Amino acid sequence: MSPQNLKKTNPSLESGDNVFEVHHPLIQHHLTRLRNQSTAPIEFRNLIRRLAVLLAYEATQDLQTVSVSVETPLTTTDGHALKPSIGLVPILRAGLGMVDAVLDLIPSAEVWHLGLYRDEKTARPVEYYSKLPQSQPVDVALVLDPMLATGGSALAALNTLKEWGVPRIKLLSIIASRDGIAEVTAHDPDTQIYITAVDPELNDQKFIVPGLGDAGDRIFNTFKTHD
Ligand code: PRP
Repeated sequence: MSPQNLKKTNPSLESGDNVFEVHHPLIQHHLTRLRNQSTAPIEFRNLIRRLAVLLAYEATQDLQTVSVSVETPLTTTDGHALKPSIGLVPILRAGLGMVDAVLDLIPSAEVWHLGLYRDEKTARPVEYYSKLPQSQPVDVALVLDPMLATGGSALAALNTLKEWGVPRIKLLSIIASRDGIAEVTAHDPDTQIYITAVDPELNDQKFIVPGLGDAGDRIFNTFKTHD
């Protein structure tokens, strides 16, 4: 199913080419709690998981299935099984907060971690972990990262996955900046981007405004570790 069909079949998705902003009352409710600076880490983690499930549900609408037969206790009937191999690709650290929730939806998925952090002075991504195999790329990769700010980290991850040979990539971010979306779509128009909110600005430190602060620090309760 093409992205265009996806948009037609689901009025809750707004598409700008390959960008899908998922609107839903539950998403808006949970997102507002997520943004709140008073939300404690335990609730923040739960909210990230809930939003990851809702995003992944929308982002996987167009996955292909194959027909299978299934034996119920009463008879044999027709069913479906997912056709493509799926890889979840969390960008460390914050993407880790989304993995388990999406893995509950797709238990057969492979999980491939990519370690990237943003240099605080340049805001450019620095890779510190990548252990993809030489061959057998997954058919569809779901890149998980709650924040898409300048887009540098996402683009680095997408390049790594394309070098691995992944034919289809979907990027799932909870909050994106306008600039980040523009950057990713300019360099990688084929990647589908699923987000729950588009925020208007980046500040001088390249943080998303209004945003929610540093997702990794809020998930892992590590506000004091930056020198
Ligand atoms: C944050 C966020 C993204 C990246 C977004 O991670 O989780 O990975 O920055 O910024 P960009 O779009 O400008 O690249 P961070 O570098 O703070 O690492 P962390 O997840 O370990 O906190």
